[in-house]
Amino acid sequence: MHATPAILTAAALTLAATVAAHEDHPPLAHDAPHSAGDPRTLVELPAPLEARLLAAMGDHRAALQEIKEALAATDYGRAADIAEERLGLSSRERHTSPAMAGHMPEEMQARGTAMQRAASAFARAAREAGASGETRPALAALARVNAHCVACHAAYRVR
Ligand code: HEC
Repeated sequence: MHATPAILTAAALTLAATVAAHEDHPPLAHDAPHSAGDPRTLVELPAPLEARLLAAMGDHRAALQEIKEALAATDYGRAADIAEERLGLSSRERHTSPAMAGHMPEEMQARGTAMQRAASAFARAAREAGASGETRPALAALARVNAHCVACHAAYRVR
């Protein structure tokens, strides 16, 4: 069997894309100064606030993990509680302070609030899943929470 021109063209395009992707690869961190080519906005925080932010982030990561474990165990009420208390609007007081807000661009604060809203929306969806057995809306809502993590991380850094 002969390769048709169409197949050859497809193969050539794939190869070209692979080469291009390779060439577009950003330089390794140790090859470049810290911020060179980094599209994220640097938000300079006093050391204690930076430590607090990173500690809160560590808890966000753990909370997502625990939510997934609760979903896998079909414990929707627990998934909802974790989301609301540790990521949702109910966690605002713990994660938001005037000192912190004073150092953050308004858009970054808005992204944080959007994530908290999404987490509270997930909590509601998880409770509904517990009642109805229909889990897809809750999973979609959880993906939306995660999308806020990803979007903010693409936009800002503190170090
Ligand atoms: C409003 C913006 C924002 C949102 C929303 C956000 N983060 Fe972050 N996160 C940051 C910033 C800024 C950093 C610090 C990045 C850097 O400079 O290293 C960070 C760092 C982290 C780190 C690394 C902590 C460390 O000690 O190095 C983890 C883990 C993390 N975030 C998890 C999450 C998770 C999970 C979510 C969503 C549930 C989330 N974040 C939502 C802004 C955000």
